[in-house]
Amino acid sequence: MRILSGIQPSGKLHLGNYFGMMRPALRLQEKGEAFLFIANYHALTSVRDSARLKQDTWDVALDFLACGLDPSRTVFFRQSDVPEVHELAWLLSIVTPMGLLERCHSYKDKVAKGISPTHGLFAYPVLMAADILIYQSNIVPVGRDQKQHVEVTRDIAIKFNNEFGEVFTVPEPSIQDDVAVVPGLDGQKMSKSYNNTIELFGDAKESKARIMKIVTDSKGLEDPKDPETCNVYALYKLFADDVQRNAMEVNYRGGNYGYGHAKKALAEIFEKSFAPFRARREELKANPDYVEDLLRNGAERARASAAATLARAREAVGL
Ligand code: ADP
Ligand code: TRP
Repeated sequence: MRILSGIQPSGKLHLGNYFGMMRPALRLQEKGEAFLFIANYHALTSVRDSARLKQDTWDVALDFLACGLDPSRTVFFRQSDVPEVHELAWLLSIVTPMGLLERCHSYKDKVAKGISPTHGLFAYPVLMAADILIYQSNIVPVGRDQKQHVEVTRDIAIKFNNEFGEVFTVPEPSIQDDVAVVPGLDGQKMSKSYNNTIELFGDAKESKARIMKIVTDSKGLEDPKDPETCNVYALYKLFADDVQRNAMEVNYRGGNYGYGHAKKALAEIFEKSFAPFRARREELKANPDYVEDLLRNGAERARASAAATLARAREAVGL
């Protein structure tokens, strides 16, 4: 079973990325042959600063490796080291109906946020389809907001297979229902575009200060509280085991437990859970040659697989 996912290097990774996409993808490493890549071609649709793109790409590599990506199991690479995806994107674009792309929420949302409505932004899902199909992926772990893009990929694969013969595996999205949307400080979806994130590897003091700012209702210290409607609890339970989760629920419902206490507990569990990742990240940061070799080696393996699919697709269309 081939598992594949990618993430754009377009800002610092946050807890929404971690619980929505990174942790599920890292857990799937055990279940099959995983491919994970840093989608720097995609990031170009919104990033126009070459130094920043390079730095963010590097940071994403360190973040993933620090959080448990095992390079002996997972093929880890930069998207731009496999230029074959562009040729495949063209072959896919000739069967992609305009209407399919016009219905994509992500394009409309990004334009509404002020990103230029370029052809690249519009054709983004076709490149994403090429990323997925070129490795004959079966499962694509992503957060809920990417589900539509995987459905578009399925439609494109089916259309191509119908017109030219069975070339592509039709993939399935894999979405963690319990963490479908991780809330940010203000209760909206945590997203770098809303300035409501808690960064994975931000400054410890700053992260704590941000946690203390999470929006809650105005119940007083003594009042019993409902964990199910609370943003602090929603984040806490992502880190907690069953015992910790139950204890926090009892505290909420019992009263005499303030949101300040819950926020402190959240800051502590985050700090504790990420301490080993922080240490690992420092080690990796001090060994850039090791990380660079690993990415190059990943790209070589990815390219071999990509070239095989591309050859079949070229043959199928008559090139
Ligand atoms: P952002 O919203 O910060 O721009 P991206 O769109 O780059 O994040 O998302 C990268 C990956 O992380 C995607 O698979 C996305 O679904 C997942 N993701 C991002 N934010 C969240 C969130 N708040 N909850 C769950 N998953 C998320
Ligand atoms: N569009 C994805 C995002 O913004 C990133 C991405 C690009 C991706 N290509 C992919 C995800 C292929 C999964 C599979 O998060």
